[in-house]
Amino acid sequence: MKNYKLVLLKGDGIGPEIVDEAVKVLDKAAEKFDFTVEYDEALLGGCAIDATGVPLPDETVAKCKAADSVLLGAVGGPKWDTLPGNLRPEAGLLGIRGALGLFANLRPAVIFEPLKSASPLRDDIIGKALDILVVRELTGGIYFGERGRKEVNGAPAAYDTEMYTVPEIERIARVAFEMAMNRNKKLTNVDKANVLESSRLWRETVIKVAAEYPEVELNHLYVDNCAMQLVRNPGQFDVIVTSNIFGDILSDEASMISGSIGMLASASLNENKAGLYEPIHGSAPDIAGQGIANPLATILSVAMMLKHSLDQPQAADAIENAVAKALETYRTPDIYTEGTKKVSCKEMGDIVCSLL
Ligand code: IPM
Ligand code: MG
Repeated sequence: MKNYKLVLLKGDGIGPEIVDEAVKVLDKAAEKFDFTVEYDEALLGGCAIDATGVPLPDETVAKCKAADSVLLGAVGGPKWDTLPGNLRPEAGLLGIRGALGLFANLRPAVIFEPLKSASPLRDDIIGKALDILVVRELTGGIYFGERGRKEVNGAPAAYDTEMYTVPEIERIARVAFEMAMNRNKKLTNVDKANVLESSRLWRETVIKVAAEYPEVELNHLYVDNCAMQLVRNPGQFDVIVTSNIFGDILSDEASMISGSIGMLASASLNENKAGLYEPIHGSAPDIAGQGIANPLATILSVAMMLKHSLDQPQAADAIENAVAKALETYRTPDIYTEGTKKVSCKEMGDIVCSLL
């Protein structure tokens, strides 16, 4: 029987509660589809700062590198907001992305049929469905470029650098084309090639890689236009590929269109496909410990893990179906509407398990 070694980074705020429910669901799926999972835990973010003084201890990196995959809850909270930049929980998140080489970030924005009314966009704009995949470059660009403070004409100044190498662009483009091949074969490249030299190289390189994928229809949008098109006609998008910073911004916009940020999962992949999986929402410190968090995004992150890293696509489908079924009747408070049954974080986990 196949056995997988997982590292859990429960993190801060609601992180531990939602990861516990996702683990419960994964164990149930393992039982049903005949594999086993072994868990280890490690510290990342605020809890790591409290315990060790740094947001990303070396031990965490070592454990994650040795694992088949990593599941992350969420990091951060007001308690650590006043620390210097390199000691904040966010620095731990960037650090683990860099250390594990997680260059490809997949952020699906989908509308779950029973939650359609949660979208802030009108029905006629949403159309029949929304299913967009944002592929964000995650270990390069301005997030990781040279930055600093200096003096310019006697005035204090600061700078950050956007730089991409051709191999960095090629590998993220290939991931995006591969994803498009498994979907509707439509890829939109998003850049700012009318202004930025780094974007011009980005676009040239994406066009070169496109030759390897003649079946995929490729188009290009400037990032400002893309931001506008996303709310004007989101149905035109299938897969979007873009740089680290543009992907950060556009994936938030796309998630809001779906109206249910508590439902969206994400995957961050490296060359060996081990990957780190996490809900796209934050640590929600205001509701932590109350048992009312929505565990579904984390549960759906486990489904993504089963698909992309653990080679258990049937178990992944089963979890996705169980979540869809659960939503027909049961809701955590964040997605509650009249006529449905309000349940706690733990109850939602149990319901998904029972529907598996
Ligand atoms: C995200 C977040 C992070 C990012 C922050 C917390 C550093 O916004 O994962 O999108 O900017 O990448
Ligand atoms: Mg973000």
